[in-house]
Amino acid sequence: MATLSTTQTDNSQASITPSPLLELVAPVLEGMGRVEESLQEQLRARHAELQPLLEHCGELSGKRLRPLLLLLSASASGNSAKNQVRLATCVEMIHLATLIHDDILDQADQRRHRPTAHRLWGNQAAVLLGDYLFTHSFYLASTTGDARACEILGDATNRVCEGELRQIRTAGDFSLDQEAYLSMIEGKTAALCDCSCQLGARCAGATQEIQTAMSRYGRDIGIAFQIMDDLLDIVGSEKQVGKTLGSDLEQVKLTLPLIHALSRVNELQRTEIYELVRSPSRTREQGLMEWYLKTDALTYTRRVAESYIESARKQLQRLPDSAARRSLVSVGEFILRRDH
Ligand code: IPE
Ligand code: IPE
Ligand code: MG
Ligand code: MG
Repeated sequence: MATLSTTQTDNSQASITPSPLLELVAPVLEGMGRVEESLQEQLRARHAELQPLLEHCGELSGKRLRPLLLLLSASASGNSAKNQVRLATCVEMIHLATLIHDDILDQADQRRHRPTAHRLWGNQAAVLLGDYLFTHSFYLASTTGDARACEILGDATNRVCEGELRQIRTAGDFSLDQEAYLSMIEGKTAALCDCSCQLGARCAGATQEIQTAMSRYGRDIGIAFQIMDDLLDIVGSEKQVGKTLGSDLEQVKLTLPLIHALSRVNELQRTEIYELVRSPSRTREQGLMEWYLKTDALTYTRRVAESYIESARKQLQRLPDSAARRSLVSVGEFILRRDH
């Protein structure tokens, strides 16, 4: 549980600063401990030469947000919790796979305060490691015997991959608008949060109505999460976040602050912004920051994220009051103030 109770400030040292997530975990603390054990078990290598790679995945201690969403959704929406630990392990392995592949795409050096897999073992091994995590997750999901849960997981993973593919295909396209951006992040990030919450409600034996509400909650939380992540890519500290930042614009992947700024300027100013995006990083960052401030783009971006958190919170009104439900509300607040 160290992952949830501490934040790391450099490659080797865990600081004693309590993570704001810790209090949110309280209603499902025991279950999260079991997810951690299950993850470690699934990541045990069968062949000695694979051990460092799988150990790296096990050590990659992240926020475990998706398993947390699954367990809290289960606890908030029913009494049973069949398969929840196994499915929470599956969603975290899918998440891990997407991070390993995404870091190759973004040419990122650092993830979760450590060197990325492709920097350690090269692109070929990192691609296959990500593949292994995807297939292992689907295998593990199949052992639940719950075909519908496998369908939900498979569909979400398709949508994540579509979202990442769409982002790659639209990189460099300055005509990308807010609607297209939101639709892309709904795939690449929100789909797995949606899936986690829906699976949690399903494990708890919740009604279809509650499962749909939880799915919508997860989608809205996920969209807000990615909007705030894109903001962190601009204003965050690498030391605090523990991953390479600034890569969105390095790869000319447009995110909401720039999309908003571009929608507020004239043709001449647009050309100036295009040039800045293609400039070396320091010039780009300083120059674009001026445009963000002139167009109120950072405040606007934050407001859009807030509106999704508000929408997510409304979905929870269908659930009875409980500690888990209160934690789900707090997850929304955490997303808006997170710095890692
Ligand atoms: C990072 O997700 C990828 C995005 C969807 C932005 P997290 O910020 O949840 O990553 P970890 O699991 O805590 O490392
Ligand atoms: C990718 O988004 C989200 C995934 C589906 C992996 P980002 O590229 O913004 O994620 P980070 O910032 O590298 O974690
Ligand atoms: Mg990335
Ligand atoms: Mg990012």
